[in-house]
Amino acid sequence: MSKQRIAVGLCGLGTVGSGVVTLFERHGAALATRCGCPVELTHIGARRDRPDCDTSGYNVSRDIFAVVADPEIDIIVELIGGTTTAYDLVAQALEAGKHVVTANKALMASRGNELAALAEQKGVALRFEAAVAGGIPVIKTLRESLAANAIDSIAGIINGTGNFILTEMAKAGRAFEDVLSEAQALGYAEADPTFDIDGTDAAHKLVILATLAFGIPLDIDGPFTEGINSVAPEDLHFAEELGYVIKHLGIAQRVGGQVDLRVHPTLIPRDKQIATVDGVLNTVMVRSDAVGELVLVGPGAGALPTASAVCGDVTDIAQHVARGTTDARPVLGLPTQALQSLPRVSRDDVQSEWYLRMVVSDQPGAMADITRLLGNEGISIESLIQRPPKSGAKEVSVVIITDRASGSGIQRAVDAIEQLEALAGSITMLRVEAFEGS
Ligand SMILES: NC(=O)c1ccc[n+]([C@@H]2O[C@H](COP(=O)([O-])OP(=O)(O)OC[C@H]3O[C@@H](n4cnc5c(N)ncnc54)[C@H](OP(=O)(O)O)[C@@H]3O)[C@@H](O)[C@H]2O)c1
Repeated sequence: MSKQRIAVGLCGLGTVGSGVVTLFERHGAALATRCGCPVELTHIGARRDRPDCDTSGYNVSRDIFAVVADPEIDIIVELIGGTTTAYDLVAQALEAGKHVVTANKALMASRGNELAALAEQKGVALRFEAAVAGGIPVIKTLRESLAANAIDSIAGIINGTGNFILTEMAKAGRAFEDVLSEAQALGYAEADPTFDIDGTDAAHKLVILATLAFGIPLDIDGPFTEGINSVAPEDLHFAEELGYVIKHLGIAQRVGGQVDLRVHPTLIPRDKQIATVDGVLNTVMVRSDAVGELVLVGPGAGALPTASAVCGDVTDIAQHVARGTTDARPVLGLPTQALQSLPRVSRDDVQSEWYLRMVVSDQPGAMADITRLLGNEGISIESLIQRPPKSGAKEVSVVIITDRASGSGIQRAVDAIEQLEALAGSITMLRVEAFEGS
């Protein structure tokens, strides 16, 4: 049955929620033209008012579940974050036959399989474009535009806060804490930035991308995850000296019949396209059989870019609702029953070049010992920096880029080197990705 007017309910009036209110006010008329009938934000669920967001023209409920219970509402927009109340809210909305749009990657990565199955069972839409890379339309690209491709790999900078922090530390020499505070003030960082920093947020997004790319169920425990907190300012400086930049990457690739999923700081040659994506920008590079290489770049966080993705999903659904047609597209690209698990590549087996930084006593024979222990694992040195001691100092910083080695091979070599008497402290290890052909 076609509709004369589509009513949208918004739950959560934070950074993104207030951005959605702004975009409805700015572009509501254009959305109505696209959909063929008015698409109106009518009911907002917010525990408190926001001084920067005028909600006087809306029905406002302090209880977000009142929005779901509102019989007028066709589309619920979930922007509260978290995985407990948000799950209950989305599940209740789907159960009630309402379409749902969410920006919640934690919810999708952890409980998206159940929610997608519920949406399919109820014949309603569940859309989540804003959950990955903010304003970049990567979900639609993978789910729809690249449907006739076999995807080999995805590599991306998919956490704007992490990229903003690493960029400012590397280019402006600023301290980590100082840049993090600015990221929070600008609305890039989550309220609790732990997940931005320890890599969990990027891992959630990678899980979603891998499902769309490889047709596997969402598996929140799938990726090996390391955060930007393992990068020290001196690593950024040494990387630059060696011709690299350090980016926090999410990588998903097929290796034979297996899938390799990992999130970690990575050295990238500075002339590669992905290395030039700075600040809060995100990028996703997709390699597939028909298209070849596709690179998407854009704002990965912030009120309006994220709200733009939310409103795009709302419009998409509203166009179906307005015509009384069913949007039968599977939530996760394939019907949930067709998703098939693939074994994970062990991180021990993943091959890459490696960056090693260590502090060594300035004594004869130390470098020869390090070279020998790497050689015992068949690993040779591609580049080396040995920073001479400051006058009077007895220790030198040694930085090595190795040739390709497996995770287990380099770990054995590092464990052996750390046993040397000349070594002071532990060795910093970071992967290097060459991105041949990009
Ligand atoms: N910020 C970004 O750039 C960005 C980008 C992509 C995706 N996202 C995702 O978008 C979602 C929203 O993020 P955000 O940055 O807008 O978060 P936020 O600024 O912290 O806003 C969350 C809002 O939800 C409200 N809320 C939380 N629990 C509630 C509850 N039980 N009942 C009523 N209201 C509740 C909060 O109210 P109180 O103020 O009362 O706590 C707050 O207004 C998250 O899933 C996030 O991961 C954000």
